[in-house]
Amino acid sequence: MNPPRRYEDQRTPAASAQHASFSTTASVKDCKALVYKSHGDPAQVVQLESMALPAVGDSSVLVKMLAAPINPSDINMVQGTYAILPDLPAVGGNEGVGVVTEVGSQVTSLKVGDWVIPRDAGLGTWRTAAVFSEKALTPVPSDIPLLSAATLGVNPCTAFRMLSDFEALRPGDSVIQNAANSGVGQAVIQIAAARGIHTINVVRDRPDFQQLSDRLQELGASHVIKEETLRKPEMKELFKKVPRPRLALNGVGGKSATELLRHLQSTGTMVTYGGMAKQPVTVPVSALIFKDVKVRGFWVTQWKRDHAHDEGALRDMLAQLCALIREGKLSPPACTELGLQDHAKALASAMQPFASSKQVLVM
Ligand SMILES: NC(=O)c1ccc[n+]([C@@H]2O[C@H](COP(=O)([O-])OP(=O)(O)OC[C@H]3O[C@@H](n4cnc5c(N)ncnc54)[C@H](OP(=O)(O)O)[C@@H]3O)[C@@H](O)[C@H]2O)c1
Repeated sequence: MNPPRRYEDQRTPAASAQHASFSTTASVKDCKALVYKSHGDPAQVVQLESMALPAVGDSSVLVKMLAAPINPSDINMVQGTYAILPDLPAVGGNEGVGVVTEVGSQVTSLKVGDWVIPRDAGLGTWRTAAVFSEKALTPVPSDIPLLSAATLGVNPCTAFRMLSDFEALRPGDSVIQNAANSGVGQAVIQIAAARGIHTINVVRDRPDFQQLSDRLQELGASHVIKEETLRKPEMKELFKKVPRPRLALNGVGGKSATELLRHLQSTGTMVTYGGMAKQPVTVPVSALIFKDVKVRGFWVTQWKRDHAHDEGALRDMLAQLCALIREGKLSPPACTELGLQDHAKALASAMQPFASSKQVLVM
């Protein structure tokens, strides 16, 4: 095995300033990681542990993790209720950004100093460092804000694909979505606004509804309404201002999804990507017979796997998203930054309703 190439701090001044404490020229031998050995309540079963790192092989890289969010799918994985589950013990976290600090001698697509995000789910990002296969990572530009990079690979990609792949939307068209204040929802609002597409954004009622509505409208939301408004005559008034949606995006399920379907244009599509209410989607018979609506699903992990041999598709999407970030048209959701040692608090907060802030572990 040839000796690996090591990291001398090559980050931009802006990136260095965000993590001024980080500098290394010596190979890292171990890391701290949030590990779970059994499934259960994340605040109980996840523990901070020291782990030895393997040597950097010819086709692998050493990555110093910089930041990683806690997403609902991470929680479901720890609970043991997600569609794919890693073998136990496992390191938590599917998303995040790190910097490459050493590369193996056969590595061609990455170099020291590159920012990288996971290419697939299940990598285990809640740790200070890791040795990953080169193939497990995708480089991202390091001139975007750290929190944008840490939350780029899942929610904005999901929003981008759902707005691109199901209906041929044109400027002036409209999209309706529930969980509009979620990470996915905020990305939908911003990407749609950048494309001239109206969004009708449904959120659960809360004491600070007006504040939330103002914040989503600042992001570009055309209309923000409460779940109960979906069943009220004011919807008729709303559809005098915007066309009925050709696309509905459902991250909730249950009654909320049924209500979205009621407002869809004939032959429109509802895409289900999440089930936060943990209730099945009921499709009214009339929506199928008289409107011929299409009921579809989307999973960004499957999209990435389906495009594993089409590097260009992923690169092109990330380039378009990063361009929007640089133009100030796509910001990350509001984030609460915490260290790995505060994991119990971070995990408990991530499961609270009406949180309006994503917990991000900063290493
Ligand atoms: N299929 C895919 O490829 C894909 C990709 C990314 C995400 N997702 C899924 O999309 C969903 C959102 O993920 P995220 O990271 O964007 O979430 P997030 O930022 O953590 O936000 C969670 C959202 O869910 C809402 N919510 C929670 N419990 C609810 C309930 N019982 N009824 C209605 N709404 C509820 C919250 O609303 P409140 O503010 O009212 O609590 C909030 O809008 C998750 O289910 C996630 O697994 C799927």
